Amino acid sequence: MTPGRCLLSQKQIQARVRQLGRLLTRHYAGERPLFLGIMNGALFFLADLLRAVELDSEITCVRLASYSGAKSTGKLRGLEAMGDSFRDRHVLIVDDIFDTGRTLAGVVRRLRELGAADVKICVLLEKRRRHEIPVKVDWIGFKIPDEFVVGYGLDYHDRYRGLKQIRVLERPAV
Ligand code: IMP
Ligand code: MG
Repeated sequence: MTPGRCLLSQKQIQARVRQLGRLLTRHYAGERPLFLGIMNGALFFLADLLRAVELDSEITCVRLASYSGAKSTGKLRGLEAMGDSFRDRHVLIVDDIFDTGRTLAGVVRRLRELGAADVKICVLLEKRRRHEIPVKVDWIGFKIPDEFVVGYGLDYHDRYRGLKQIRVLERPAV
């Protein structure tokens, strides 16, 4: 499997991240939001978004995993490792993609348990599909077809994260 058709160019991604930065700057004006990046997929999105906002924000990350290759395993690992620095905070979850909804729903539930005052979600991509778990996502970069994509942080068995575009993973022609 290799990266094929380009769905989103570097330029398109950069322009949209700047827009999202402006929206978040307006929304969180006067507050000190805590950006929670879901690693590793949100790596580049989080870094670019932080440079696009003009806010006195803080960042923290959690490493979660539910995928094995191109399939969701249905199990979410890593939530227990989230510490208690979320109490009374306005938290913005930053993730690469809203697919089944399991990751985002799990993180929201955990943040409520840990006493966050407010939880909002910003994802770069949302797949157009029936999400298994409904989640209210507050900011979405792009809606994309229900295909497996790589690049700009998104991986296939940990490969292709460094691609500057978002590409569809394809079977190589023989
Ligand atoms: P969920 O199914 O909504 O819980 O998505 C969980 C995670 O699976 C995402 O944060 C991604 O890391 C990964 N994932 C889902 N769809 C894709 C994809 O098309 N490419 C790469 N990773 C994906
Ligand atoms: Mg992820």
